[in-house]
Amino acid sequence: MIPIDLTDKKILMTGALGGIAEYVINVLKKAGAKMILTDLKPEEEVVPVLKSRGWSDLPYFPMDVTDSHIVQKTVDHVFDKWPDLQIALGHAGGTHINNFLDASANEFDDLVKFNFTGQGYFARAVGRQWRDRNTPGHLIFTSSYVSRIPMAGISTYTASKAALEMLTKNLALEFAEYKIRVNAISPGNVKVGKSKEIYDSDPVYRAWVDRVSPLGERNSPEAIANAFLYLCSPLADELDGHTLLVDNGVGLPKLG
Ligand SMILES: NC(=O)c1ccc[n+]([C@@H]2O[C@H](COP(=O)([O-])OP(=O)(O)OC[C@H]3O[C@@H](n4cnc5c(N)ncnc54)[C@H](O)[C@@H]3O)[C@@H](O)[C@H]2O)c1
Repeated sequence: MIPIDLTDKKILMTGALGGIAEYVINVLKKAGAKMILTDLKPEEEVVPVLKSRGWSDLPYFPMDVTDSHIVQKTVDHVFDKWPDLQIALGHAGGTHINNFLDASANEFDDLVKFNFTGQGYFARAVGRQWRDRNTPGHLIFTSSYVSRIPMAGISTYTASKAALEMLTKNLALEFAEYKIRVNAISPGNVKVGKSKEIYDSDPVYRAWVDRVSPLGERNSPEAIANAFLYLCSPLADELDGHTLLVDNGVGLPKLG
């Protein structure tokens, strides 16, 4: 067995209270990483959640990823406290299903901001810290398999994630001179989080997901968490500008 030891790693995460994040945090924590959590919710609302997940010892900061000022301020504060933070997970994102023509202007803007622009704010804030402190860093975005195949009803989300994957490659190139690597992970339909919520409540979506899953199974959250474990470990030290697709085959092109 090759043990993965992350005891020297401090990892900052956005969207840390979501469905997939729970599994990711537990795996990284088990490997010894010190996790620093951020999410939209105010601290007082989060205390019972942290307690119920056994995370009362983890630092938490409210951070709306769509507010560039808050993102910069929070990231600066976190790096002042933990200057040797080496990994940042831009994980917050998500969508609901709605026809493009029926979406309001705000709905369109909000989805782009949540899934793309906010990731850019986060990349800029952590990138500036690593550059100015002259320390290497690793930024990992969470994308989605639908960045590569269209799906009706989530056009803004798929396009935002596609842009995010290009940003991954472009920033990897641009940040390389500062020894900052940028990668992404692209899950399929996962059995927890927003996709589970829609799967459980929308029979049309459920039937579609079941039909397009070649192995007959959605992603387990454990599989996604293990991919994060790999990406955060020294085993992935030479990955840069890469999007790791972990989708149980759902993204394979199919005829019919
Ligand atoms: N669930 C899936 O099947 C699936 C599939 C592919 C990709 N993904 C991606 O994985 C990531 C997590 O998905 P999930 O389904 O676990 O999400 P989730 O809906 O369970 O959690 C999202 C989290 O983001 C937080 N959040 C909402 N608005 C925010 C904001 N403005 N700023 C900061 N945080 C905010 C929420 O409070 C919540 O804790 C997302 O990037 C999503 O696009 C999910």
